[in-house]
Amino acid sequence: MNARELKNIFIEFFLKKKHVEIPSAMLVPENDPTTLFISAGIQPLVPFFLGKKHPSGDRLVNVQKCVRTGDIEEVGDAVHHTFFEMLGNWSLGDYFKQEMIPWSFEFLTKTLNIPQNKLAVSVFAGDQDAPKDEETAKLWEKQGIPLPRIAYLPKENNWWGPPGITGPCGTDTEMFYWTGDNQAPEVFDPKDNRWVEIWNDVLIQYLKNNQGKYEQLVQNNIDTGMGVERTTAVLSGFSDNYLTNIWQPIIKEIENISTKKYSENLVPMRIIADHLRAAIFMIADGVEPSNKERGYVLRRLIRRSIRQGKIIGIENNFCSVIAQAVLDNQDNYAGTYPELDLNENKILETLEAEETKFRRTLNKGLNEIEKDFINYTKLFENKKQEAISAEYLGKKAFYYFESFGFPVEMFLDEASFYKTIIKMFDRDEIIKYFNIEKQKHTEQSRTLSAGKFKSGLADHSEVITKYHT
Ligand code: SER
Repeated sequence: MNARELKNIFIEFFLKKKHVEIPSAMLVPENDPTTLFISAGIQPLVPFFLGKKHPSGDRLVNVQKCVRTGDIEEVGDAVHHTFFEMLGNWSLGDYFKQEMIPWSFEFLTKTLNIPQNKLAVSVFAGDQDAPKDEETAKLWEKQGIPLPRIAYLPKENNWWGPPGITGPCGTDTEMFYWTGDNQAPEVFDPKDNRWVEIWNDVLIQYLKNNQGKYEQLVQNNIDTGMGVERTTAVLSGFSDNYLTNIWQPIIKEIENISTKKYSENLVPMRIIADHLRAAIFMIADGVEPSNKERGYVLRRLIRRSIRQGKIIGIENNFCSVIAQAVLDNQDNYAGTYPELDLNENKILETLEAEETKFRRTLNKGLNEIEKDFINYTKLFENKKQEAISAEYLGKKAFYYFESFGFPVEMFLDEASFYKTIIKMFDRDEIIKYFNIEKQKHTEQSRTLSAGKFKSGLADHSEVITKYHT
């Protein structure tokens, strides 16, 4: 099954159950300064779980564009993505688990034709905040899921939200698909990673308040989420998401440009495909590369792709060529997201400009970093490494950021080629010192600007420009 088919049949299924399709919200949250990007379909709907009336009614369905920046470091494996699409349906105080569980079962076994013996589910085990969810387990059993295939799991597995510090949340029930070669074991072992989660029904019943307590919401809601990339892969029998037709046209283009094979360059090609696809959707929603917040996330994605491109031998601008492959993917995005079509030129130009800019300093920076790391390695070998601490490396990372535009992750990626060094330090520690250094410079630059402003000078003296770049 391809991604477009999956999206269509999901939407149709819920339209038949009297849902209204709403468009995907923009990746940039409209009224929420606390989060950088929309990371789940529920996020823009939060006020409606609290009782506010949604203009499209109380049964909604959509395909939501999501970005999860917490996963950037994981990208390179077979299943993690920065950007992904999530299928979701919602009940805003309308139906609850009595309807949702049979519908979930119907969609999986009748619409997607998943054999029942390949399915298992988990439900909430119960704790001080909410009772053991035997009711949901019974609903599954009634559908035909045998008891040994129903696992009771604690909060870290079967609780979702709130999306911020406070807000709507609840226990959830997750559905797993058996991807192993053999017949699925009778007993569901959630630790066996051949069981892959494909759908999550969240029973939004509580409100986490600012004292950290869970109150009963004014209404019971449903929020479900099914990842398009993962489900498409699983249903096509792939354990590598990048083998699906969501990614293949992009991967093929990377293979063409680099004249290397995907099978021999999994990690760099996955990172490039993932990061550039995310970058395209961000630019389409108005984000521009910068050194702050969203713009900095975008910049990191583009720059990391360029660096990974070098690893597979790409020395010239290529990002906009990959972007074209994403935009033209008839199987998936072409014609479905108007913002991609409308902003095609802007997307291509932004990538081209950012790449040209970064390539001016990239090789010089890499040469210098290499020299540094060879030096450090020698110091370690001669046991004279006292001067090299996480703080020292954090400051160095900032130097590379300021002088060559290397995001801190890139410094760490480079360091990882020198195993003796990176093994000695905690990545988070280095990032911490990098951030302290960055903060110091921001403050310095602010003080300087304020000073100049007071003395009536324009804000663009040489020194200010230096601190700003
Ligand atoms: N919000 C839930 C999730 O992200 C389901 O939509 O998994």
